[in-house]
Amino acid sequence: MGNSRFIVFEGIDGAGKSTLIKALNEKMEALGLTVHMTAEPTKYRIGRIVRSILTGESEGDEKTIAALFLADRVDHLTHPEYGMLQKLEEGTHVLCDRYYLSSYAYHVPHVTMDWVIAANSICADLKRPDLTFFIDISVEESLRRLVNSRASLERFENEERITMVRNNYFEAIDRVGQDENIIVIDGARPFETVFAEIWSITKTCLES
Ligand code: TYD
Repeated sequence: MGNSRFIVFEGIDGAGKSTLIKALNEKMEALGLTVHMTAEPTKYRIGRIVRSILTGESEGDEKTIAALFLADRVDHLTHPEYGMLQKLEEGTHVLCDRYYLSSYAYHVPHVTMDWVIAANSICADLKRPDLTFFIDISVEESLRRLVNSRASLERFENEERITMVRNNYFEAIDRVGQDENIIVIDGARPFETVFAEIWSITKTCLES
């Protein structure tokens, strides 16, 4: 896969991932690097089904959602046109907003952490991120940002749910951290400070 890097952004809702990933994409492109910015759930076939369930447009229970996210991810890796493996193979850097750590955080306890880690090992075996940024903010900060930025909150965007997701993230990082390169970033600081830290770590990763 040459020198192309696979960099993932993770965090609870409102952590600022999307702003940071866009800023990193711009910075890398300005340096003349070829970058593919993408996200999960994807905008492709299976991702669209997932989104329709998340917004309540169609029915699907939590186990169905967990299984669909896995299918979406495998497709996102392996598709011959938009697949991330293909992009990396071509020498393109890939920046992805959420990857399997999100599944460990969002689908437990509807499925067990053991199951979701084992099921996603097919993705880990295909491609582990070179770098995962976990942008950490408190539950209070998350709720504050969500209320300020959205007209309505999505399925389960409430305090109890967000607390559970944040705890799951830390449990997952404890469990899989030794096999992954996960960097916890304090996302409560001003954007410039957070981005400067992300850029400095990314630069080292690109040069390694
Ligand atoms: P998205 O609409 O991209 O929201 P955000 O900007 O907060 O990332 O993601 C939709 C939701 O999908 C988000 O609340 C997290 C959830 N999700 C899962 O439940 N499992 C997963 O495996 C992934 C990737 C996301």
